[in-house]
Amino acid sequence: MDIKIAPSKYAHKNQQAHLAELVEFLKIPSISTQPEHDADVVAAAEWMADAMRQAGIENVRLIETPRHPLIYGDWLHAGPDAPTVLIYGHYDVQPPDPLELWQSPPFEPVVKDDYLVARGSSDDKGQAYIHVKAVQAYLETNGRLPVNVKFIIEGEEEIGGASLEAFIPENKELLAADVALVSDTHILSPEQPAIVYGLRGLCYILADITGPDHDLHSGSFGGGINNPINAAAQMIAKLKDENGRILIPGFYDKVRQLSAEEREILRQFPLDEAEWLTNAGAPQIWGEPEFSLVERIGARPTLDVNGIIGGYTAAGRKTVLPSTVHVKISMRLVPDQDPKEIADLFCRYVESILPPSVTVKFDIGAFSPASITDYTIPAMRAASAAYEQVFGKAPVYMREGGSIPVVAAFQSQLGLETVLMGFGLPGDRIHSPNERFYVSNFYKGIQTSIYFLNEYARLASLDSTGE
Ligand code: BES
Ligand code: MN
Ligand code: MN
Repeated sequence: MDIKIAPSKYAHKNQQAHLAELVEFLKIPSISTQPEHDADVVAAAEWMADAMRQAGIENVRLIETPRHPLIYGDWLHAGPDAPTVLIYGHYDVQPPDPLELWQSPPFEPVVKDDYLVARGSSDDKGQAYIHVKAVQAYLETNGRLPVNVKFIIEGEEEIGGASLEAFIPENKELLAADVALVSDTHILSPEQPAIVYGLRGLCYILADITGPDHDLHSGSFGGGINNPINAAAQMIAKLKDENGRILIPGFYDKVRQLSAEEREILRQFPLDEAEWLTNAGAPQIWGEPEFSLVERIGARPTLDVNGIIGGYTAAGRKTVLPSTVHVKISMRLVPDQDPKEIADLFCRYVESILPPSVTVKFDIGAFSPASITDYTIPAMRAASAAYEQVFGKAPVYMREGGSIPVVAAFQSQLGLETVLMGFGLPGDRIHSPNERFYVSNFYKGIQTSIYFLNEYARLASLDSTGE
């Protein structure tokens, strides 16, 4: 690590303390989807708000929403000509289940083999905290920042981000900025940083398929009454072909074609397919033959059944013709697919292929469009320079297959491009047991954020004077 400026030295000297603080943050089980953890979610928000105040960030407050609080804070004394960076992160986490697969309890963080192991360590508490420490490093050493900063941290990212999405159009002035900065993605390896310039969108549908209005004896009624689980299986089999091409009419109509330039960028992306497969732990790579693996996992839309609940699943045998089956389906979307339109196409198609011997009810949620950022803007160049300074290597550009719902709203509501400057690693096991964050990336992330703010101030001032 190349340490030149005072904030960078400060962050280097205080590494141990910063790690110890993050450990405290990770002990709070802020699981946004489970109502029994609502108080923990608030506790995590309060912990983060306190940490922001201690860092010297001003106007820090929790903002009530119908579900989990937002955290806002700012420091706006860089001068009228300095640009403003809107820093986003999320303090909520996914459920830790299945618990028995954790080697240490999910909310009792431990450092093992250079990784900090805990739910939320990489996604996203550890990454969000990086920017709080970067700002503190400036304020403690220089008493000022090279740019204005605003923080907006949410507690509902893992459940679709509805409250923040509703907040943004009502608070455009409060959130006004020149660019958004988000650390909630991963780089390629400890040696190879990466900037994500595209995220997929998401459309999530719960389908309840019902046959008889109560469970029936499968001997007395079997053969004369359709079984909703069988009907669901037949329906699911018609959603895509064996290579993953989705069979819903109109599904691909709006998909923006990859330009030759972008295909070339993605072709150069140094993904080690064997290592990627090892990480997945699957027997074989799979998917649409006319697209490369990098394209399949970042630039192509998908449809997956995420879960099926129904029938008798306890030990032993029960001869039953079940009344209902619940099917959870998600579709990852790409530019310019409209999540509501896709939901509509999906529901109409499913209704058309299910037989009249069952009925279906849909619960449609978590709409988020895909997003794509222009990788030539000054903030992107600043991020690239900052990575290079700290990691000793220029970043590669990639599309990420996951979703961060707010990024599209920043674009459409606030006119903001988002720089996705992540510090996770592909093997961090986010959403999975034994989630972890490479400790060295936590430290390097703080350094990279420090250099980013410095470099962005410089490039933005050059940009505005037309040089
Ligand atoms: N940080 C992830 C997004 C992500 C996933 C980035 C994989 C890089 C690699 C984010 O917290 C996430 O999990 N998003 C959800 C959104 C959904 C619950 C609305 C996702 O993609 O499933
Ligand atoms: Mn995340
Ligand atoms: Mn997540």
